[in-house]
Formats: sequence, structure tokens, C-alpha cells
Amino acid sequence: MSRRAYRAALLHVLDDPVRAPEAAAFHPDGLLVVEDGHVAAFGAFDEVAPRLPEETPVETLPGRLITPGFVDAHVHYPQVDVIAAWGGQLLDWLTTHVFPAEQAFGDRAHADEVAQVFLDRLLAHGTTSALAFCTVHKASAEALFEAALARNMRLIAGKVLMDRNAPDGLRDTVETGRADTEALIRAWRGRGRLGYAVTPRFAVTSSDAQLAMAGEILAAHPDVLLHTHLAENPAEIHEVARRFPHDRDYLAVYERHGLVGPRSIFAHCVHCNEDAMRRLANAGAAAAFCPSSNLLLGSGLFSLAQAWRCGVLTALATDVGGGGSFSLLSMMGEAYKVGQLRGDMLDPLHAFYLATLAGARALHIDDKVGNLAPGKEADFLVIDLSATPLLARRTAQAGTPAELLFVLALLADDRAIERTYLMGELAHARA
Ligand code: GUN
Ligand code: ZN
Repeated sequence: MSRRAYRAALLHVLDDPVRAPEAAAFHPDGLLVVEDGHVAAFGAFDEVAPRLPEETPVETLPGRLITPGFVDAHVHYPQVDVIAAWGGQLLDWLTTHVFPAEQAFGDRAHADEVAQVFLDRLLAHGTTSALAFCTVHKASAEALFEAALARNMRLIAGKVLMDRNAPDGLRDTVETGRADTEALIRAWRGRGRLGYAVTPRFAVTSSDAQLAMAGEILAAHPDVLLHTHLAENPAEIHEVARRFPHDRDYLAVYERHGLVGPRSIFAHCVHCNEDAMRRLANAGAAAAFCPSSNLLLGSGLFSLAQAWRCGVLTALATDVGGGGSFSLLSMMGEAYKVGQLRGDMLDPLHAFYLATLAGARALHIDDKVGNLAPGKEADFLVIDLSATPLLARRTAQAGTPAELLFVLALLADDRAIERTYLMGELAHARA
């Protein structure tokens, strides 16, 4: 049996701290104990240390904050090479930048290389779990699953389904999409810490027959998720209305095919009205809020207040390459700015919940990760509070965990992520 302990400031949430303020646990001098890859204890040093078996190695980390790893609830691994690509709103950006980049993933060697870069960047930014789009190519999903399995990462992904309105080399068919998806589920779901998500790109690029097929696969596999885009950008919504004139709105297209349920995660939902948000909530579906992407692609300002009012479980996401950073800390800051433009002030502790436990809940992995409660898998970060001179100065003045989180959300990035652990094993150390 292996047991190790880390003495540092500790922070996590056991529930949404806006609903339950006592759900946030902060220990300025804390002790995290890890046994065989799982959390054995999390608490104040003075309380936990006396119970620690004598021979346990304790590492003392002054000026460091330990948190759970972040969960990115929506990200595209093949878009690493179009992050920070200039120009255009969603549909033009897809045509100009994304589709050409994704065409290269028919080549397994290219997919393998980008998968490694992608996982390196996630871990370097403190993201230990993600729900990821691949490309239409089966090999793209195989490359990512193989790379994540080798690193023992809790990752959920899926081959993209798109059988129309996409360029050559990026279309499947109803039958190849079905066969590839079924084969990938058989081969990868439940291996190591991997999960599968049926991934129709969005209503624009799938026929009714393909969306129906996705619904059939979802119904046949109760442990598989559904991952797609919804109501992101005005021109996209117009296009969906044109292509599906008999559906009352965008969400109705997915509802008609059995794609809206408790295992569904919809990226964006920026332009869902109150009625659509209530239908999402009633179905138990989750929204992934991607503030950086929504700003960069000019999509609009998601309303956390509306999601909250309607009861939609919402998590935070980068949407790389639409989003301009892999950092969930940065996303907390971007989410705050979106809130300011809407007149809603985002509590930093709530933002932290969105980046950790809410993501785990949306992905149905909250029994395993999302916080550092005893028994959970020990995916955690060591954050260096003085990674930059400005960060050192401002974190030294932060008196409350909310102040500390807000400074990190505005000023920190991968430079502050000193170490990332997966199941108690060091998976990334800052250079
Ligand atoms: N909608 C359909 N495909 C995409 C994509 O790749 N990125 C974003 N942000 N939205 C999409
Ligand atoms: Zn996306």
C-alpha cells in the first residue's frame, strides 16, 4: 500500500456553494492524504496529522494551494492547431480554419501526435478530466483514447458524426457512423478511466436519419453520454431553422430524435429561451458554458442567471479551438466578464464549482472526481501562488478563498500550475 501526504492550503467544494455556503471547504494550513491513488483524508493539518500513520511521508508545500483537477466540459482535441486563428464568426470560422485542420486526422500518425500535444496542454493547465470532440475519423478517437489510457486520465470522447454540409473527407454516412461508433464503444468505453460520448457535431451537419441513429445508440448504451452543440451563434441558429422548418426550435430537433436526456451535454446554449432552458432542465440535461469561445466567435453572452433560474446543470468549458485558452482558471475570469456585461455578478466560489464539481456532475463522474472528498480518485493540482511577481503580490493580499480565486482567475494561467496529479501519480510538473 502506498500512502503520501501533502501539507499546503487546501480548497474544494462538496456542493454548489451558492446553494450551500458550507459546501466550500478551505484550510489555509491543510493536509491531503493519498492512499493507493485515492483520497484518504482532506482537512486542517491540526486535525488530520494526529491520525496519520507515523511512517507516512509528508511533503510541505509553503505558498501553494491544492485543489481538485479541473474538468473541461467541452473541448475539441483536433483544434489545437486552430487556437488563436483570426477572423469570422462560427460558420465562416468552421469553413476557413476548422474543417481544413480536421481533414488531416484521417492520418493516424497525425492524430497520435496531436493527441499527445492536447493531453500535455490539458495537464499543464490543470485539467484532469474532459469531454472531448474528436473528428469524423474513427482513427482520431482511437488515437485520443489510446493516449489518455496510457496516462490513466479520466476522459470522455467520441468520434464526430457528420453526414452532410461538410467538405470532402469529413463526411460519414448513417451506416458508417453507426458501425464506427458501436465499434469504438465496444473497444474503449470503461477501459481504464475512459468513457464514450455519442457526438453528432450539430444539427447543421447531420441528416435526420443520422440523428435518429445517434438516438438509437444512446438508448442502447445506458452508460454512454450524448455530446453536441446547441444554440451557439445567430447565423447557425438561422441555418438550423431553415433546414428543420417543422421543428419549433433548435432543441426540438434533438428532442425529436431522443437526444435530450440526463446523459446529454449541450455546448453553448447561448440563445436558448426560457422555454428551451426549462425543457433542458426537465430532461436533466447539462449545458457547457464556453465564455472565451462565445466572445471570440462573437456568439453572444450566456446567462448563468437564466440557467440557474430554470434549473439547468451548467459546467464551464474552454471549447478550444473556439476558446482562446486551455485554462479553466482563465475561463472563470472570462465567465465573470460575461456576467458583468449582462449585469450578473459571478461569485468566484461558484465559478470554481463550475470548473470542478459541476463539470464532474455534467459528465456523470462526480462519484469519482470533482473534489477531494475521502474515497475520490486523487486527481489534484499544486498551484503556485507566487508563480509571477504580480500573482505573488496580489495573492498575498487575498484574505478569503473567494478573493484568492478571483485573483487566480484574472492573473493565473499554466505558469501557476506547478504540478498535476492523476490518481496520486505526478502527471505534469512545470518546467
Ligand atoms: N458548432 C459545430 N462545430 C463546432 C465547433 O467545432 N466549434 C464550435 N465552437 N461550435 C461548433
Ligand atoms: Zn465546440
